[in-house]
Amino acid sequence: MLRRPVPATLISPAALFGVAMFAAVIGGITIYAETRAKTWTYAEAITDREVDSGRAAIMQRGCGGCHDIPGTTGASGRVGPPLSKIAIRAHIAGTWPNDPGTMARWLMHPQRMRPGTGMPEQGPSEAEARAIAAYLYTLD
Ligand code: HEC
Repeated sequence: MLRRPVPATLISPAALFGVAMFAAVIGGITIYAETRAKTWTYAEAITDREVDSGRAAIMQRGCGGCHDIPGTTGASGRVGPPLSKIAIRAHIAGTWPNDPGTMARWLMHPQRMRPGTGMPEQGPSEAEARAIAAYLYTLD
């Protein structure tokens, strides 16, 4: 049987486009995953606690009743400010510098720091507060 090479014009531009898009998507996912992993590692390093246990504590303590917290189940409260981007905000509650120690202090004693604020004292230990801070510092 006579076989002729497939003319280049028959290689579908759509197929080439598809391959390029696939490569772009895989590349994008890879970069995204690497960036997320770095953020997690960094959040755990500065708080010395595990992001996962902080996330569990947030759900157990029901912070989501008052706050909208990305990545946690059922957290869509509207009493306090949304906690998306809390990792890259300059201040905590608009006042104190946003560093891990101050964040843990706020989570343990919001009423001491700002008497009468709408955020209640929930009594987490320092270890738990730092774990919660670890999770919050992944929200960038
Ligand atoms: C009863 C409602 C309520 C609950 C429950 C609550 N918060 Fe808050 N939270 C607030 C309010 C109101 C503010 C704003 C305080 C202010 O600016 O004085 C706030 C502020 C904050 C801030 C500072 C936000 C910012 O934009 O700077 C963080 C972080 C925070 N809360 C985390 C938590 C976490 C974590 C929990 C669970 C352990 C929690 N909150 C539970 C009401 C609540």
